[in-house]
Amino acid sequence: MNKISIDQVSLRYPNGVQALEKVSLEIGNGMFGLLGPNGAGKSSLMKTIVGLQQPSGGSIHFNDTDIVRHPEFIKKQLGFLPQDFGVYSRVSAYRLLEHLALLKGISNAAERKAQILALLEKVNLSAFRNKEVHTFSGGMKQRFGVAQALLGDPKIIIVDEPTAGLDPEERNRFNTLLSETSEEVIVILSTHLVEDVRNLCPQMAIIKKGRLQAWGKPAEMVAALEGKIWTKQIHRSEREAYQARYQVISHLLIEKEMHIVVYANECPQGFREQRPTLEHVYFHALYQ
Ligand SMILES: Nc1ncnc2c1ncn2[C@@H]1O[C@H](COP(=O)(O)OP(=O)(O)OP(=O)(O)O)[C@@H](O)[C@H]1O
Ligand SMILES: [Mg+2]
Repeated sequence: MNKISIDQVSLRYPNGVQALEKVSLEIGNGMFGLLGPNGAGKSSLMKTIVGLQQPSGGSIHFNDTDIVRHPEFIKKQLGFLPQDFGVYSRVSAYRLLEHLALLKGISNAAERKAQILALLEKVNLSAFRNKEVHTFSGGMKQRFGVAQALLGDPKIIIVDEPTAGLDPEERNRFNTLLSETSEEVIVILSTHLVEDVRNLCPQMAIIKKGRLQAWGKPAEMVAALEGKIWTKQIHRSEREAYQARYQVISHLLIEKEMHIVVYANECPQGFREQRPTLEHVYFHALYQ
């Protein structure tokens, strides 16, 4: 069993932006969903875990080794697909993987070849192995990104918003690929899509403005909202008045009618109960 322990990690950029504020988390094998809106600090946290930047405070351990002090310990066991993975390289998929495999220290030629061919098969790019990567579609580039992240059999795979820009079918294929990989390893997936987390991740965290808002198992977090989620149809002109009075966690305009969802310990006048969902967990966590 692998474990990443993040303890009170803070990160302040040189321009003064406080991107992370005392974040503490434990992440075990399987898929972990890191959910948060734009600018929440997801990429900052991932880059800190992979050792691309040093936290300004706190510690990160992988299987009891301090990886802030010993970043080389994690580098050998890590696959990273950054948010801005720009391999629009003019070399073929095979050649590029070979180059990256050498950088990862896979020095035995036969082993390198076997691994690259197996990975291309796994991400469904075998037929395109001699095509230049810059000619790939967005979905193919992302799958190529996963292949490079899986080189060298990493114990931790970190993928930063991998499904952004993928069509539903590619997104599905990509997600299936990740979850098949995640049994024996830690996969950290950052996203702003609640749906990706609901379908894939037995563990999750929600961050906002660099702070951890909630953390746990999605099903338990949903169950904790049982009996606290209420809905009502209002006229859209009434929205502000309701927002002033209640913790409105979502609103949806259907034709002229506005459907609002509020969080409250007891049923507010004129509302009816609604079964909680992971979306409610997310918007409730962001509200706080
Ligand atoms: N290199 C940097 N220097 C200064 N500030 C930065 C830097 N990188 C990110 N930030 C700031 O840190 C905060 C967190 O950014 P981060 O990229 O981690 O968010 P995110 O959750 O990944 O957002 P997104 O969903 O848009 O990718 C933002 O306010 C951002 O502007
Ligand atoms: Mg990001």
